Formats: sequence, C-alpha cells, structure tokens
Amino acid sequence: MKALLDQARLLDQQDELASFSKQFVPGNYDIYLDGNSLGKLPKKTIDRIKTTVEQQWGAQLINSWNAHWLELPKRLASTMEQLIRAGRGTVYVGESTSLNLYKLVLGLLLSNRFGKNLTTDLLNFPSDNYILEGIAKHHGALYHLLNYSSYIEADLDLLKSHIATYPGIICLSMVSFKSAYYYPVKELNDWAKDHQSIIVWDMSHAVGICDVDCQKMEIKAAVGCTYKYLNGGPGAPAFLMLDSELQNGVGNPIQGWFGHQKPFDFDLEYIQDSSIDRFANGTPSVVSMAALEIGLKISLEAGISSIANKNKRQIQFLIQAVKEELLDLDYQLICPDLMDRIGGHVSISHPHAKAIVEVLKSGTKNHPSVLPDFRPPNLIRLGVASLYVSFDDLIRTVAFLKTIVVTKMYKYVEPQNHIVP
Ligand SMILES: Cc1ncc(COP(=O)(O)O)c(C=O)c1O
Repeated sequence: MKALLDQARLLDQQDELASFSKQFVPGNYDIYLDGNSLGKLPKKTIDRIKTTVEQQWGAQLINSWNAHWLELPKRLASTMEQLIRAGRGTVYVGESTSLNLYKLVLGLLLSNRFGKNLTTDLLNFPSDNYILEGIAKHHGALYHLLNYSSYIEADLDLLKSHIATYPGIICLSMVSFKSAYYYPVKELNDWAKDHQSIIVWDMSHAVGICDVDCQKMEIKAAVGCTYKYLNGGPGAPAFLMLDSELQNGVGNPIQGWFGHQKPFDFDLEYIQDSSIDRFANGTPSVVSMAALEIGLKISLEAGISSIANKNKRQIQFLIQAVKEELLDLDYQLICPDLMDRIGGHVSISHPHAKAIVEVLKSGTKNHPSVLPDFRPPNLIRLGVASLYVSFDDLIRTVAFLKTIVVTKMYKYVEPQNHIVP
C-alpha cells in the first residue's frame, strides 16, 4: 500500500489538471467518488445563479428574455458541440435525457428511413429501455431487448448479427451505467450503416470524461445528460445530437411552440424550425441553463482530451490497486478486462457492499470520509471525475475499503434505506 501511496502522490504532482479541483465547492466529504451520478458544484455557479435570479429575473424581469435568456440555449448547444466534437448546428440543449431520447427515436422512426425494429440491451439504462418499449407499443414497431451471457460487456457478435437480421433503430449507452463498459462506437456505427440502421447513443456516462469525437466516430444521433461529469447541477438540461444530413426529414414529434420557426408570431399553423432547434418544446429552464454554462466552460477550459487522458491513467491505477489489495477480501471487479473498453468509473462488488458504503461515508480517525455510490444488490461504483478526483483520493479509498473488511467494521453499521440508494 505504501508504494501505491507514494506513486499516487508523484502522479498528482505531475498532474496538469490538479488545480481544477479548487474550482469546486469541497462538500461535506473528504473524497467524492460519485461524480458519475451528480457532479460537484462549481464555485462560480453560485454567483452565476445569483446574477440570473437577482439581476436578470429580479430587476430586469421580462426584458431579460431579449437581453440574456433567448440566446442561452443556443450558446450552450454550441459549447456542447465543441465538447463532443459534433458538427455545427447538430446539438440541441434542453429537457431531460429521457425526453430527448423519446423525441429522437420517435422522430427517426416516423421518418421511415429505418426498419421498424427498436433494439436495446440489458446494459442500457432502464429509462432508455422503457422509452423504446413504449414507442414500439404505441407506434407499431417491434421492441427487442438483447440479453448477453455477461452482465459486464456486450456480446458484439450477437449484437451485430441481430442488427443484420432486424435492421432499424438501436439505442445503446455508450458507457454502461453499471460496469462502465465502453462500446466500440465507430465499429458499431459502421456496422449499423452497412445494415440500413442507426445507433442512438446515450452518452450520459461518457460525456465530459471519455474522448468522444462525434465526427471521427461517425455518431449520427445521440442524447446525454449534463449533471454528471459536466457538473451542470441536479436536473441540468440534457442534450440531443442529430447529424445535419439526417435532420432532413426527421422532425420533433412533440410540436411545441419553441420548436416553431417563429414562436413569437403565435401563428395558428405549426411550421417546424429548419434548424436543430426544432427539437425544443416549451420555455427553456433558464436558471438551470445558467448553472450549466459554468460547468461546460470548466470542461472546455480543461480540455476533453486532457480530462480523458488523466481519467484513463486513473482508472488503470485504481484497477491495479483493487487487484493488489482487495480481491483477496471478497471484493470483485465488475468491469471489462480491456482498458480501451472502460469508461470513467470502476465498479466493485462485495457481499456487504451496502454496509461498507455506510462506513466509507462516515470516515474514521485514520481514514477520510468517502462518498461513492451504491447500486443494489451489492455494487459500489467508484466514479473518477478527473477534474477534481486525485490519484491520492483513489488510493486512500482503496486503503479504507481494505481496512473496513479486514477489521469487519461493516458489521457495526445500520444500513440506511434511502429512496436514492
Ligand atoms: C445512462 C443514463 N441514461 C438516461 C438517464 C436518465 O436521465 P434523465 O433523468 O435526464 O432523463 C440516466 C440517469 O442517470 C442515465 O444514467
């Protein structure tokens, strides 16, 4: 353990992103490993919300729409395009990931460009699967839920042969929320294209932490959230991306006034906006958008490649430490074998995971308090949000995980039953 601690400190000294952690409110825990669920609060967000509320809403009232707010969603979309290297005019920012997925998948289905098969898999986030199933039920499409023999990785042969047999629209989480499995995105996009299909990528667990390049990876359609690695805040507006060529013929199935070409003409007839803004529905959530802008700017300033590069090294380091220190103690690594196939978090399991997480959160005299997340029945996700997580944080967490099991500290806590686990 000592050697790993020394190595961690050295790596932190060489870390060019180390100073970014100062841009975030520290929070009540010494170490925060749940940025894969809710990113930390950037200090500047507090002032930005204050300005939006006090000066813009409070003082300038409705004038703020013209002075500040109407341009905000467009600015956010343009920043998102830079962060995911998508073409200009391909990103819309607003609403939740779930709603954007509904609009995008149904819009693609109704365009009649693809077969009427809606496919997803068991590695995907449940909300995505509910949405696909619902669309299939209401719009005469066939719903396919692929089950692989492994719950960690996709069976690529099975997935590809399924696409070849049932071409249509496929929705996959680019990085799986449990095992952090990172799909070979370009390879699958090419396969889908060759089989008259399209993959809608849910980038929620990839955006802001993986080096995603929509243009190089031939990503044609995607959605994702911004409250995880992009630090946009709870319920921050999500995004939707649709390639320019596909925008021809793919409309927003929810025809709200903000998707109208001229919303403020209050016309009786719905004329869809010609740009990606057609995917808007109603009034944008201004306060959340103001907060999000700060989060996006921090990631842009740090640079996605630098963040992803640090993250890769941290994930490798963490896995090495888990292998060396924890596997003899009933912990198991629930992650893909290949480094290239792992996203931004590392999941481990233990029969006493729930109680172990409670001890982690409390800290002890000799160990820092650590906030990771717990996913039933026995998964501990260690989210490595590289903007504010250090190598030292990772090693001290592993040391604490070891102590908890060696000393059986987990026996003395009362596991809590919270609604959000
Ligand atoms: C991969 C993934 N997709 C979709 C969602 C749902 O996002 P939203 O609540 O913005 O609809 C989540 C939420 O955590 C998620 O992790």
